[in-house]
Amino acid sequence: MDHSEFKGKTAVITGGGRGIGLCIAKTFLESGASVVLAEVEDQLEPKALAFLNSPDVLFVQTDVSEEASVQRMVRQTLERFGRIDCLVNNAAIARNVPVPELSYEDWRRVIDTDLSGAFLCAKYCAAALKEARGSIVNIASTRALMSEPNTEAYSAAKGGLVALTHALAVSLGPSVRVNCISPGWIDTTAYLHGVPAPWVIRPEDHTQHPAGRVGRPEDVAQMVLYLCSRRAEFITGQNFVLDGGMTKKMIYLE
Ligand SMILES: NC(=O)c1ccc[n+]([C@@H]2O[C@H](COP(=O)([O-])OP(=O)(O)OC[C@H]3O[C@@H](n4cnc5c(N)ncnc54)[C@H](O)[C@@H]3O)[C@@H](O)[C@H]2O)c1
Repeated sequence: MDHSEFKGKTAVITGGGRGIGLCIAKTFLESGASVVLAEVEDQLEPKALAFLNSPDVLFVQTDVSEEASVQRMVRQTLERFGRIDCLVNNAAIARNVPVPELSYEDWRRVIDTDLSGAFLCAKYCAAALKEARGSIVNIASTRALMSEPNTEAYSAAKGGLVALTHALAVSLGPSVRVNCISPGWIDTTAYLHGVPAPWVIRPEDHTQHPAGRVGRPEDVAQMVLYLCSRRAEFITGQNFVLDGGMTKKMIYLE
């Protein structure tokens, strides 16, 4: 895929310090964009640290659930690169515990990070995105659509993110397009450490997917770049499920 159109553009990736976010950031950088890692952790993975040497990468320690922190990140981004073309709301946490044990504080922490964080970043990037005729991609989850037990806060936050996507698309269009990707199982271990983790991923984990394998961060990153590209200029307000077909598979026992 030729992404030369990203030369001279700036992409902000929240939670870009590891996993899927780091892969999205790296893919933007390889496509010629400048990249901002808006990441809460200051201790980064070696793979992320190597990446920081590039003059086209800016690390801004950011807690997306804190309004002042998001405002500071947007200010620093504009001071350094002067524009924002793509915002990827990828940062998230989960607290998967039985409902009676899920404290209200933990519920709120998940909603604040996974949902309100995306709202805050959209709010403070909106003016720059409009000027650049840019694009937002929210990273939700298939858990917005289906559940295992004990995932209330995460599922609710991701469901909210899908709805926030179409609301923002209608409010910020036509100058800003807003889309969502809902990944299924994405193995980030292999991406970070170079080898698949056989103690986590079994052959049957791959073969149960209609597509024949567990997802990779690159699968998500390629979709993000497509949605931010000119080729996707008629696509907005949508949620794209990227799960190797798992949500289309009947699971009734024989
Ligand atoms: N890996 C999967 O199987 C999978 C499946 C569906 C959806 N997703 C979604 O994809 C995204 C990335 O997932 P991942 O597996 O790479 O997760 P991860 O936990 O490895 O990475 C999340 C990143 O977000 C950062 N972060 C957490 N709270 C933050 C905050 N308040 N402010 C800024 N940064 C913060 C973390 O430090 C981390 O770097 C998440 O939105 C996740 O919900 C992942």
